[in-house]
Amino acid sequence: MPITLKTLDEIESMRYAGHLANEVLDMIGPYVKAGITTNEIDRICHDYIVNVQKAFPSPLYYKGYPKSICTSVNHQVCHGVPGDKVLKEGDIVNIDVTVMKNGYHGDTSRMFTVGKTSIIAKRLIDVAYECLWAGISQVKPGNHLGDVGYAIQRHAESKSCAVVRDYCGHGIGRDFHEDPQVLHHADKHGEGDLLCTGMTFTIEPMINAGKCDVKLLPDGWTVVTKDHKLSAQWEHTVAVTKDGVDVLTFRPDEKIPQVITANYRFSLFGFRW
Ligand code: MF3
Ligand code: CO
Ligand code: CO
Repeated sequence: MPITLKTLDEIESMRYAGHLANEVLDMIGPYVKAGITTNEIDRICHDYIVNVQKAFPSPLYYKGYPKSICTSVNHQVCHGVPGDKVLKEGDIVNIDVTVMKNGYHGDTSRMFTVGKTSIIAKRLIDVAYECLWAGISQVKPGNHLGDVGYAIQRHAESKSCAVVRDYCGHGIGRDFHEDPQVLHHADKHGEGDLLCTGMTFTIEPMINAGKCDVKLLPDGWTVVTKDHKLSAQWEHTVAVTKDGVDVLTFRPDEKIPQVITANYRFSLFGFRW
């Protein structure tokens, strides 16, 4: 399918959906404590999206997915299916929320820590967040999609971490997953499609403490590291603007990592929420 370019009105609709996804993550944060199950987290998010936001949790029934959010704990890389798993002190958890409102999707995920976590786990979470922003910094018309992956891979490997190759970011809009595929790795600059004003897609690098290899669990969804070492992921939905990038799921209190502002120059559009 061709890449669809969005109008400014469509981008505002996506920003609103992204705002709702952020509200869900803000709401659920205080519940992410030792003793809660990932099923309980899923139910609270589901009820909030449906009853309070009057919106729809995009993952539910998507290609048969049984839950409303993804919860990926420790060595789970992505698409962790909520279940009876009880969170315990020291766990790290990615919660991935996609909300559909007024026909448009907004997709974002964050890492949460349960109580006190190891320094190694915290460092991985920080490196993954820096990788997300290294990717975002490459988004502007005239750059190539592969420049996003190149920046992410270079940053991850400079910190002795590995980029998962088997899953990628995606175009988003009226569809949850549209073209293009957004790889989080590249061997050189200038690979892939040219970025054009009006493109909207996610950047969601999965960064492993050990090797990049992953495997799929028998539930058909949950992806884990082969070496059982930790994995971390953050995700934003972005739009390519006339001269840079508009992070549609940006939070007013969000801090762009200093290592990124120091090393990359990029034009970030103002946000509304
Ligand atoms: N939100 C995930 C993403 O970032 C996709 C979840 S699809 C599901 O693309 F079916 F696994 F929920
Ligand atoms: Co997501
Ligand atoms: Co996504």
